[in-house]
Amino acid sequence: MPLAAQPAKLWGGRFTAEPSADMDRLNQSLPIDRRLWREDITGSQAWAAALGRAGVLSTGEADLLVEGLERVAARLATWPVHEWNDASDEDIHSLVERLLRVEVGAAAGKLHTGRSRNDQVATDTRLWGLGAVDRLDVFIRDVISALVSCAEANVDTVMPSYTHLQRAQPVVAAHWALAHAWAISRDRDRLRDARPRVGVMPLGSGAIAGCPFPVDREALREELGFTTISPNSIDAVGDRDWIAELLFVSASLGVHLSRLAEDVILFSSAEFGFVRLSDQYSTGSSLMPQKRNPDAMELARGKSGRLIGGLMLMLTVLKGLPTGYNKDLQEDKEALFDAVDTLETMLPAVAGTIRTLRFNAPRAAAAIDPSMLATDIAEFLVRGGVPFREAHEMVGRLVRAAEEAGCSLAELPRDSFLAVSPVFESAELTKLFDPAQAVQARASVGGTSPESVRAQINALKLQLTAS
Ligand code: ARG
Repeated sequence: MPLAAQPAKLWGGRFTAEPSADMDRLNQSLPIDRRLWREDITGSQAWAAALGRAGVLSTGEADLLVEGLERVAARLATWPVHEWNDASDEDIHSLVERLLRVEVGAAAGKLHTGRSRNDQVATDTRLWGLGAVDRLDVFIRDVISALVSCAEANVDTVMPSYTHLQRAQPVVAAHWALAHAWAISRDRDRLRDARPRVGVMPLGSGAIAGCPFPVDREALREELGFTTISPNSIDAVGDRDWIAELLFVSASLGVHLSRLAEDVILFSSAEFGFVRLSDQYSTGSSLMPQKRNPDAMELARGKSGRLIGGLMLMLTVLKGLPTGYNKDLQEDKEALFDAVDTLETMLPAVAGTIRTLRFNAPRAAAAIDPSMLATDIAEFLVRGGVPFREAHEMVGRLVRAAEEAGCSLAELPRDSFLAVSPVFESAELTKLFDPAQAVQARASVGGTSPESVRAQINALKLQLTAS
């Protein structure tokens, strides 16, 4: 094997002894950061070109490095799994530099001029982060769009809403679906809002104090597609706020998906029976032939745990670090990659589950018992001039009377209503107990009336078409 083909440390000069195997095993980040190879090559090509423009390298040297890196990229693109598994390089930066040496010989040693792995790894990870933000954005958009479609199909499907998981007031199923859509749309806003903070370019910060060569960082930024350049080299090499931020967005999204999943799991149970999941997103039991399990939703609920865990991991690593780069920061990538991988697996399955679930409108309507209209009855009295507190008390007495008589509120004789208040003279009681009417009445902006719900659908659709 030619010498360059052997893994070598990028920092061996001042040491007389090799690190122990145990130290190497702890220190090696290649199994995690190998997925940054494209970003590492892109960043290195830009750096070589910048060194050329700054006159630190001759044009010939810069071109040689850029072309050599291109050949390394071509090689890595088809590198078999066993090559990756066998590579004992410390990290992706060491591996790329070693392979570059194979391509261009000793000139490879000029690439690292004015650069440190501290600004290099921060640059690579942020480049990867920008791609991840854009990919996640599309997946999240699709979940919102699935919820909006579900809403469109169920503008007139009435169902109970719940507070304390006790039946509260009738709503339309579309209103329920949109409640989740809005929460997830806020996560999408957060993700997009974070993008410019992901897009800060640390390259040119060196190990901590900056670069002594006249490299044009603004041109580098432009070439690499970053939004801005880091204003402080000490901050630049130690800043992982943007990862914590993406992990927060992931955790928040995880919590929202988990709550959606919990609803769907409940609603698909025989006890509720409001929705039926499609076969495509259900699984059976190996023992009980009748089972139809909502596994996709359960996994979405379960995986939110690891998303929350990733955020805890990152914040805990950052807390108490002295200023500048510290090796602890190497732990950042596993959390980031895992959150993005998890979401990229979860989001399409959640979108598919929502898109293919069907509401059982008669079952959902049947779950609305007349006592859920007690508030509407009180509001009828309010319209007749009764102060709300008194109306509340009067309807409370009717609820108690119904309970004592062992019937529903709607089954109480008209006389019971008249005994409580003469305002009921003018009441068409059957209308008062119609859930569709109750829903129709809540026509405030953001309310559950079909008209208000259509306005929400339009607002979300506008967001979705805008981006
Ligand atoms: N693998 C390291 C990381 O992910 C690269 C930076 C190493 N820097 C250093 N000074 N040893 O953070």
